[in-house]
Amino acid sequence: MAYETIIFQKQGNVGIIKFNRPKALNAINPQLVSDVNQALDEIEKDRSLRVVVLTGEGEKAFIAGADIAYMVDLPPLAARSWSAEGHKLGFRIEDFSLPVIACVNGFALGGGAEMAMACDFIYASENAKFGQPEINLGIIPGFGGTQRLSRLVGKAMAKELCMTGGMISAQEAKAIGLVNKVFPADKLWEETMKTAGLIASKGKVSLRSAKQCIDRGYDADLRLGCQMESDHFGLCMSSADAKEGMGAFLEKRKPAFKAELD
Ligand code: CAA
Repeated sequence: MAYETIIFQKQGNVGIIKFNRPKALNAINPQLVSDVNQALDEIEKDRSLRVVVLTGEGEKAFIAGADIAYMVDLPPLAARSWSAEGHKLGFRIEDFSLPVIACVNGFALGGGAEMAMACDFIYASENAKFGQPEINLGIIPGFGGTQRLSRLVGKAMAKELCMTGGMISAQEAKAIGLVNKVFPADKLWEETMKTAGLIASKGKVSLRSAKQCIDRGYDADLRLGCQMESDHFGLCMSSADAKEGMGAFLEKRKPAFKAELD
């Protein structure tokens, strides 16, 4: 299927969504939200896919924010709905049944940083820049920035970024725990795909359980989180992958995980 604002590709068992509005540095408009949702629908239907990577087409931007030209004249209630749409997409990515990696190859500002933070983790190029510049526009982050950023980097750092509207480098983002790894720009894609391939070799069922336990447990108290972990631990044992993984260890061979999510 051809998309207006993204490029959707499959490379082996990895589904790749590239944001593609180069003239606006891949800024998020309603069409982009709809295209990403449709690509995620396609990925969900394709059992050969095991991991998703989000990145920006071109060399300059992952996403430079929500589209300011679209937002400038939005009435307040429409703006509220727009923010809710962004949240819906963020939760869809966070709750997605497969791991989702953000490969940040340039500006990840405003809604772009928020899209990246909804992913399971972020790899970035040395030239990437992160920030929540909404305050410079007289608004606040609307796609989860005030919430996910503080959970990732702590309240005080999140406040500094949201209140100054300043940008930080990829290395600074790594130092505060926003980014997992930073690579030279010409190595970012290769390294991201290497990690995507490694994760794709694991079992879908245990990957989904790990993701859900970490995400949901993060907002729960420790006992509730551990209870959920026990339930998922039992659930994983019910999948053929557990027999395969432990059997392969005992037989001193590589496991081949094949269990599906349904
Ligand atoms: N929305 C719409 N268009 C954007 C955009 C955005 N967020 N970011 C960049 N563009 C457009 C520019 O208007 C420009 O278009 P023209 O060529 O037609 O003038 C084009 O992309 C290239 O941008 P610049 O010429 O500005 O490029 P630069 O290299 O000089 O600067 C930049 C790059 C620092 C990222 C700068 O473009 C910028 O500050 N962009 C806006 C960043 C921002 O404020 N993002 C937050 C948006 S609000 C938000 O995201 C709210 C939310 O949470 C929901």
